Amino acid sequence: MRVAIVGKGGAGKTTLAGTLIRVLARRGRKVLAIDLDTNPGLAYAIGVPPVDDGLPEEALEQSDDHKVAWYGWKLATDLAPNDAVMRYGIEGPDGIRFLSPGKIASDKDVVKRNISAVQQIARGFDAPGWDLIGDLEAGSTTPYEGYTKFAERALLVVTPGWTSRLMARRLLPILGDTPTMIVASRFANGNFDPDLTPDVNIPYDENLARADQLGQPPIDFCPDAPGVKAIEELADRLVAEEAQA
Ligand SMILES: Nc1ncnc2c1ncn2[C@@H]1O[C@H](COP(=O)(O)OP(=O)(O)O)[C@@H](O)[C@H]1O
Ligand SMILES: [Mg+2]
Repeated sequence: MRVAIVGKGGAGKTTLAGTLIRVLARRGRKVLAIDLDTNPGLAYAIGVPPVDDGLPEEALEQSDDHKVAWYGWKLATDLAPNDAVMRYGIEGPDGIRFLSPGKIASDKDVVKRNISAVQQIARGFDAPGWDLIGDLEAGSTTPYEGYTKFAERALLVVTPGWTSRLMARRLLPILGDTPTMIVASRFANGNFDPDLTPDVNIPYDENLARADQLGQPPIDFCPDAPGVKAIEELADRLVAEEAQA
């Protein structure tokens, strides 16, 4: 499966992404995790060593083709996306591979050099039997720019807050034809939003917030917490739906 995780900042995207990735890997699946957020996060939620660097220089190439090479950089021509993942993907728990365009940190150009290459990898990666889960930056800008194009389906994470629901209503037309599941996060009960019917509920769970306070993956810190259980159920549903398709 190829899944993009989108929604407003703080909705619970990275918590969901990191836990979903770990659950799928524990179900015996091979999972490529791509952090498309240039701020720190997904590495901690999965439990891979966090790095601010992107791909090494040898994986990148300068180009004037503005369609492919934003900021003048792209994936090296002789480097196939599948090979890039196997060579440069950081190994994480349960056999996960992790890639990111780096973080906006002391080397402010690292994301500029890497962002096109990582998207080329996401779109081109097709190693048989592998899942690809991409955690996006908050909001509508990067979906608008096409960062979800690698995905066969999207998980749109929404909290009951007004602006989170507004963001979700704006993201739906941007996602267009991409089948999208609405994941209600921290939603207790009652009417959610007249335009948004949740497909999945992830309850408010203090354990998840505590795991984040400690910088630990929820699946290691609180494996039996209701929030983790809800994400396990979602993973099973995604696997079952993929088998039916
Ligand atoms: N279901 C939940 N219940 C309680 N806290 C949550 C839940 N999901 C996420 N959080 C907490 O909310 C904060 C934002 O979550 P995060 O996954 O980083 O959001 P995003 O990636 O959408 O910005 C974190 O502190 C996280 O631990
Ligand atoms: Mg996040």
